[in-house]
Amino acid sequence: MDVLVIGTGGREHALVRALAADRGADTVYAAPGNPGMAAQATLHDVDVMDGDAVAALAVELGVGLVVVGPEAPLVAGVADAVRRVGIPCFGPTGEAARLEGSKAFAKDVMTAAGVPTARAQVCTTAAEVVAALDTYGPPYVVKDDGLAAGKGVVVTDDRHLAIDHALACDRVVVEEFLDGPEISVFGVCGWNEADGTTVYPLLPAQDFKRIHDGDRGPNTGGMRAYTPLTWVPDDFADEVRRTVLQPTVDEMARRGTPFSGVLYAGLAVTSRGVRVIEFNARFGDPETQPLLALLDSPLSPLLLGAATGTLADVSPPTWKSGAAVTVVMASKGYPETSSKGDVIVGTETLTRDLAVHVIHAGTALADGHLVTAGGRVLAVTAVGADVADARAKAYEGVGMISFPGAQWRRDIAAGR
Ligand code: AMP
Ligand code: GLY
Repeated sequence: MDVLVIGTGGREHALVRALAADRGADTVYAAPGNPGMAAQATLHDVDVMDGDAVAALAVELGVGLVVVGPEAPLVAGVADAVRRVGIPCFGPTGEAARLEGSKAFAKDVMTAAGVPTARAQVCTTAAEVVAALDTYGPPYVVKDDGLAAGKGVVVTDDRHLAIDHALACDRVVVEEFLDGPEISVFGVCGWNEADGTTVYPLLPAQDFKRIHDGDRGPNTGGMRAYTPLTWVPDDFADEVRRTVLQPTVDEMARRGTPFSGVLYAGLAVTSRGVRVIEFNARFGDPETQPLLALLDSPLSPLLLGAATGTLADVSPPTWKSGAAVTVVMASKGYPETSSKGDVIVGTETLTRDLAVHVIHAGTALADGHLVTAGGRVLAVTAVGADVADARAKAYEGVGMISFPGAQWRRDIAAGR
C-alpha cells in the first residue's frame, strides 16, 4: 500500500518517517512536504486547503491511504473530499473536526457526554464577557471561538487585557482557570455502523508551550515534548479513554457525525481531578515526534484501520521500553515573528545515529543550503533508557546543530 501524507510540519515529518520504517507502507509520498521528508518520501506540490486537488493527487498517485496532518484542512473538509473519490483517509470529517474548530461546539459535546472540563460561558457581547469574567474571577481565561493556531487564548490576571482580547474577537468562550500540569492523550479512533467507535489511546505525553525556560514568555506551538510520563498512574491513558475519549466519540456518533482519526485531549490534572482544556482533531505537534519514536508496532495498520472502520480488528499499539524526548529549535524572533533564510548546519551529522534523529518543520533549500523557513525550524528527537537518558541524547543532538538566532528550551526539570 502506498501512502500520501498531507502537510509541511514536524508532525507530518514524524508520520512520514514512521511510515517509511513500516513494511506495511510501500512508497510514502508527502505533499507539500519539506526538505527533511525528502529523505523518506517523494514530494509533490498541492494546496492543502483544496480538497479536490488533494483528492486528485491521491488518485493520480494511486495511494491506498491519505493521512491529513494539520487541523485547517481537516476543518475545511479535505478528508471528506478524499473519501468521496473512494480512497481511505485518516482524519475526521469537516463536521467532526468541529471538536477542534469551535471551542463552543466542543463544550456543548462535553456537557452532553458528561466529560469533565472547565465551567465556561460563550459570550458575544461586552456585557456578557464582563459578567462571565466576574463569575469565575482571576486568573482569567478568554478563548477565541474559532481556529487560531494556539494564539487565540489569553490567560491573565489583568482584567483589562482579558476584556480587550474578548473585544477583538467575534465570539469568545470565557472559562474558569484550571491549575495543574497539562498532559496530552491522543486517541486513535475508527468508526463503523455495527461496532460504533473504537478508541486506542497512545501513551500520555507532555508538551511545553511557552518559549522560555521555566514556562515563561508567550505561548508557542510547542517547544519540547516527551513520553512516557513516569509520574502518572500506569492506567492513566485508559482512564482518559473511559472518562473522556469514549464518551466524546460516542456522543459524536449519536449526533450522526461519527469521529475518526486522532482525538487529541489536552488535559489539566487539577486537585479536583482530570479536566479537558481543549480537544484537537489531529496529532499534536511536537508530541507526535517522541510518541512515534517510541511506537514499537507498525503505524500503517492503525491509520488504515481507523480510516476504513476496521480498527477493532487491528491490535492496539505497543511501545518500546524507555523514553523519548523532543527538543524544538525555533528561529530568531519566534513566536512574535520568525526569521527566514538563516543557514542551518549540523543536521547531516545526526542522520546516521539511530538513537537521535532530526525532524524538519520550518526548513527550506536555498542555493543548495538548508535554511530556516518558519518559526519552529526543526526538532531533535532521542530515544533513551529513561527520560533523563533520552533528554541527554536530545540535547547532545541540539548541540551539534546551529543557525543564527536559534532558540530552544534548556530547562530540564526532574520528572517533568
Ligand atoms: P487551548 O488553545 O485551549 O489549548 O489553550 C492554549 C493554552 O492556554 C493551554 O495549553 C493552556 O496552557 C492554557 N489554558 C487554556 N484553557 C485554560 C484553562 N481553563 N485554565 C488554565 N489554562 C488554560
Ligand atoms: N502540541 C500542541 C498542539 O499540537 O496543538
